[in-house]
Amino acid sequence: MSIAMRFEDYSWRYSRTSEPALKNVNLEIAAGAVVGIIGPNGSGKTSLAYSMNGLIPNQYNGIRTGAVYVLGKEVTTIPQAQLCQQVGLVFSDPEAQFTAMTVEDEVIFGMENMGLTIAQIKQRLDWVVPLTEIEPLMDKPPYEVSGGQKQRVALASVLGMRPPIMVLDEPTSMLDPMGRQRVFEVLGKLKREYQSTIIVVEHSLENLVPLADLMILVYHGEVLLVAETEPFFEQLGYLMKHDVFPPGVLEFFYQLKVAGHYPAAWPLPQSVAAGAARLRALFEEKK
Ligand SMILES: Nc1ncnc2c1ncn2[C@@H]1O[C@H](COP(=O)(O)OP(=O)(O)OP(=O)(O)O)[C@@H](O)[C@H]1O
Ligand SMILES: [Mg+2]
Repeated sequence: MSIAMRFEDYSWRYSRTSEPALKNVNLEIAAGAVVGIIGPNGSGKTSLAYSMNGLIPNQYNGIRTGAVYVLGKEVTTIPQAQLCQQVGLVFSDPEAQFTAMTVEDEVIFGMENMGLTIAQIKQRLDWVVPLTEIEPLMDKPPYEVSGGQKQRVALASVLGMRPPIMVLDEPTSMLDPMGRQRVFEVLGKLKREYQSTIIVVEHSLENLVPLADLMILVYHGEVLLVAETEPFFEQLGYLMKHDVFPPGVLEFFYQLKVAGHYPAAWPLPQSVAAGAARLRALFEEKK
């Protein structure tokens, strides 16, 4: 198993703040994994994401200790141009990443910087534009489209570069439920077809949980829990104490388990479909 990303005793404190934003983080993310990062507001999720592509410490002042390795190399030793191609970051505020005058140029920009030929760029556009449903926006200025459309443009411009590692900071915060679902369908496709490593900070867990291989809870700057998705949500009581709001299906089955109406040895279902199957099995057992 190759390792995409590793944090070793990593801490970060923004200058002029008294508390570190991240404290002694130790973490290992396997190549090809889909990873969900959750935690309450201000817990350090964005700081963790920025530490993965060198934005911290390159663009921020502060004190950094420990190390972050991307594909085996310490982030601060990798030239920025190379790092950008290895770790694609989709910001939670998509405007922060826009530089071009039209959506089309915005999406092409990263691919041109990578040195792709016109034919290669065209091929990738043919793939990424329908995938993210931005055809009608191509001639518009990126800052003039709606919030949800901006998020899809930001996603498209990073997807076009096809980085081996993608870090997405709340990529669906401005989308409606259908739009959210579609983004997660795209991420699922990337996982299956390109074995991309996908790291997503996301509040809305319904779509994330069925896709994630690994879950990380960040709380007050600390990584409190790292586990594969199923065992992670077995600790639902602990998670809820740390301000995690689980999908309804998980909470329902967790409450059944706590009240003794659901076998302790059975895993909690991660989706409504899995929950329905569990209910049928439960009724069979009681017959
Ligand atoms: N540029 C900055 N300068 C100083 N402190 C900062 C800066 N950015 C974030 N912080 C502080 O670092 C801590 C972690 O913030 P961060 O943005 O990483 O949290 P988050 O989990 O992403 O929050 P949210 O859910 O609101 O996006 C917070 O206490 C925040 O106030
Ligand atoms: Mg954030």
